[in-house]
Amino acid sequence: MANYDYDVIFIGSGPGGYVGAIRAAQLGLKTACVESRETLGGTCLNVGCIPSKALLHGSEKFAEAADGSLARYGVKLGKVELDLAVLQADKADAVKGLTSGIEFLFKKNKVDWLKGTAKFVNPREGGELRQGSASSPEAPAFAGGHTITVAGKDYTAKEIVIATGSSVTPLPGVEVDNDKGIIVDSTGGLALTKVPTHMVVIGGGVIGLELGSVWRRLGAKVTVVEYLDALLPGMDMDVRKDAAKIFKKQGMELKLGTKVTGAVVKGKKATLTLEPASPSTGSGGAVSEELEADCVLVAIGRRPNVAGLNIEAIGLTLNARGQIDTAADFRTSVDGVRAIGDVIPGPMLAHKAEDEGIAVAEYIATGIGIVNHAVIPGVVYTNPEFAGVGLTEEQAKEQGLAIKVGKFPMMANSRAKTNHEPDGFVKVIADAATDKVLGAWIISTLAGTMIAEVALAMEFGATSEDIAYTCHAHPTHAEAVKEAAMAVTGKPIHI
Ligand code: FAD
Ligand code: NAI
Repeated sequence: MANYDYDVIFIGSGPGGYVGAIRAAQLGLKTACVESRETLGGTCLNVGCIPSKALLHGSEKFAEAADGSLARYGVKLGKVELDLAVLQADKADAVKGLTSGIEFLFKKNKVDWLKGTAKFVNPREGGELRQGSASSPEAPAFAGGHTITVAGKDYTAKEIVIATGSSVTPLPGVEVDNDKGIIVDSTGGLALTKVPTHMVVIGGGVIGLELGSVWRRLGAKVTVVEYLDALLPGMDMDVRKDAAKIFKKQGMELKLGTKVTGAVVKGKKATLTLEPASPSTGSGGAVSEELEADCVLVAIGRRPNVAGLNIEAIGLTLNARGQIDTAADFRTSVDGVRAIGDVIPGPMLAHKAEDEGIAVAEYIATGIGIVNHAVIPGVVYTNPEFAGVGLTEEQAKEQGLAIKVGKFPMMANSRAKTNHEPDGFVKVIADAATDKVLGAWIISTLAGTMIAEVALAMEFGATSEDIAYTCHAHPTHAEAVKEAAMAVTGKPIHI
């Protein structure tokens, strides 16, 4: 009979690993989770979703007070000053509260936290593992399962789930040094102790625009250098085009179709060399130019964390993008090893990792699990927010689908108009024949909240008519979703 230390060990305690571990324990599995950081919660809670949202929220409050926009409500303010240390302390507080909350949940659910870096140690010879483990050194050899080593101790488990997440993709020639604070990645960009005078953001994606917004609101001049001709790759082109207009209106300088080819740091400044991404593109024409900044944020994407896991020992290989391929039940090509979250293909999002964590635990415990990868919403938490779910119009057309599109501007939504939030629209994409909703794209101050309705509708296979005939409370931003759905058949009321 098999004898393991654990039924399942999750490697990594990000939203994938910690949620999966809790669900596995809830389902009665003896569970451990390995984490090498000082605190649980992974990228998301420590240096990602949560600290970035804390700074976005705080900087929005500061900007509201500082830019005079409260005057229209009769709010008179004297000189508004920023105490960045206090804002950073509020961020740290949010992170501490949530990461220690997971530690509490681990204890409550009897998930063991194995502190340290996990590494596979067993070459699976004929399905037999070597004898012995931390908790039962004299245990007999068993078939299946794997052994990992953490902080000098071996642990065996019937199933191992790799949930090691991702880290920043480096840009050759632009060396990040978060301690100096001149060329930083997202982790350094969240921890600045001084508002830069000029911040250059390399990469007009989610991190670049969220953190660029934070530091612009706090007083920095922000220039975004983006390789492609439009911001926010992956989103619907109508959203991407409006994003450029909105961020420019907010005072960001955008250099689209432009790449950074090198950086030289001298004293407290960096000089970047910029070139058109291709000879025919680039805001600056076909010539190269130099840009000086006291802070450069490198945000050109993230790559899976696999180094140091010793996956070679178990014969696990990576795909061409350095990710671990899995089947629908998150099994890898190696028996007894599954993978979830940022380390596998798909959008690198916390809620996708969480859903996969729950599903993998349920697959292991019951053989059944569910993640609908066609309905994973994505949100950029700037002001306004940018959100989407399902297919873009371009993807639908590429797939040869006949579609109908309904669009409704936020300017015509009574609540947004009253709140002086005119930017944005809701766009609903439906199948021309069946009217089934295929996707939706939203720019609005509340887009991240509004998109949940469409995700739920899609999950239930709703038509645009279903949304149009659902009563939406008035006056709410969500009424714009209803009106966009009505517009699919050409019958919105307020435009
Ligand atoms: P991670 O959260 O990366 O966690 C993996 C953990 O595994 C890490 O703690 C790591 O230390 C640990 N680990 C790795 N290797 C080992 C090992 N060998 N042994 C032990 N431990 C190991 N997503 C959103 O959905 N919404 C957002 O608002 C959002 N904001 C973000 C903002 C920023 C600045 C960044 C960088 C990311 C943001 N993301 C956001 C993305 C989100 O953080 C990730 O998609 C999510 O954290 C992935 O979860 P994960 O469980 O796969 O891995
Ligand atoms: P990203 O993929 O969103 O954007 C990177 C951008 O950099 C792209 O627009 C790309 O074209 C550009 N780029 C690549 N190489 C370049 C170069 N050499 N010069 C100039 N531009 C270049 O990646 P980002 O912003 O680093 O975020 C990483 C991941 O983290 C994303 O996958 C995202 O899903 C996740 N994340 C999610 C958030 C959210 O859900 N709100 C917030 C922050 C991150």
